[in-house]
Amino acid sequence: MNTSSTVDKVNDTEGSAEPILQIRDVSKNFGAVQALKSVSFDVTPGSITGLIGDNGAGKSTMVKIISGVHKPSSGSLMLEGKPTNFSNPGEARASNIETVFQTLELVEEFDVAENFYMGRDITFLGPLKVNRTSLMRSRAAEAVGQLGINIPGGVTRKVRTMSGGQRQAVAIARAAFWNSKVLLLDEPTAALGVRETEQVLQLVEKLRDNGAAILLISHNMRDVQRLCDQVVVLRQGRRTGFLEGEFTGEDCVSYITGARSDIAEEEL
Ligand SMILES: Nc1ncnc2c1ncn2[C@@H]1O[C@H](COP(=O)(O)OP(=O)(O)OP(=O)(O)O)[C@@H](O)[C@H]1O
Ligand SMILES: [Mg+2]
Repeated sequence: MNTSSTVDKVNDTEGSAEPILQIRDVSKNFGAVQALKSVSFDVTPGSITGLIGDNGAGKSTMVKIISGVHKPSSGSLMLEGKPTNFSNPGEARASNIETVFQTLELVEEFDVAENFYMGRDITFLGPLKVNRTSLMRSRAAEAVGQLGINIPGGVTRKVRTMSGGQRQAVAIARAAFWNSKVLLLDEPTAALGVRETEQVLQLVEKLRDNGAAILLISHNMRDVQRLCDQVVVLRQGRRTGFLEGEFTGEDCVSYITGARSDIAEEEL
């Protein structure tokens, strides 16, 4: 039995890994509002990239561009070296990009398992008599168990009856369920208590160790410092900072506030 496959995978992707996703000079205007101005960075397998900045800095806009919700006004995205241009989130998902949006995007009237499979055209193989719902449920339950996520009531519970934190756990579990290569997490712990936050952080680390390329948005600098291998800082839509290796939460804050900046103030 090979028990070292996960470790091998990590070592394969460490250091020398090629970026799976390259963001190049991406700008986005909403009418007169310039939400992003010529932002570039890479996202690499087996690594967590932080995307931080104050409210309105452009973080969610960037996530929505990568996940096919918005089209960039200019600039380009390369996935595995090829230019990509998603017209909708379904196309991004089909290219193995999964997103936990800040607004979660769960269907309240669906249960957990139904939310996992929402918008997916899945054909289950096997005898025709096998009930599709029970298959969905058992697969969703198995995945939730493997991820170590605690969803009281299990996968048949309707999202409508859940707390904010429980919904957040469901949204993350759904994204993780599809084994995506690129995982975009827009404030995944914002509504969580201390124990749930720790569970999610450990889950994100597990997904990273399995080789996922993760983009993490967070306002919690302790989480950013603990999880992120590198950090891109946005201020007023510009990339004003980049941190990697040994950095502190204070380093992050000084870039967020503009006390430090790689860009001159008049260029913002
Ligand atoms: N659909 C939209 N239409 C018009 N303006 C928008 C739209 N989406 C975002 N904006 C504007 O773009 C800017 C960046 O917003 P964005 O949501 O990306 O910020 P953010 O960094 O995610 O902030 P937060 O930390 O508060 O979530 C803001 O000025 C916002 O008002
Ligand atoms: Mg946001």
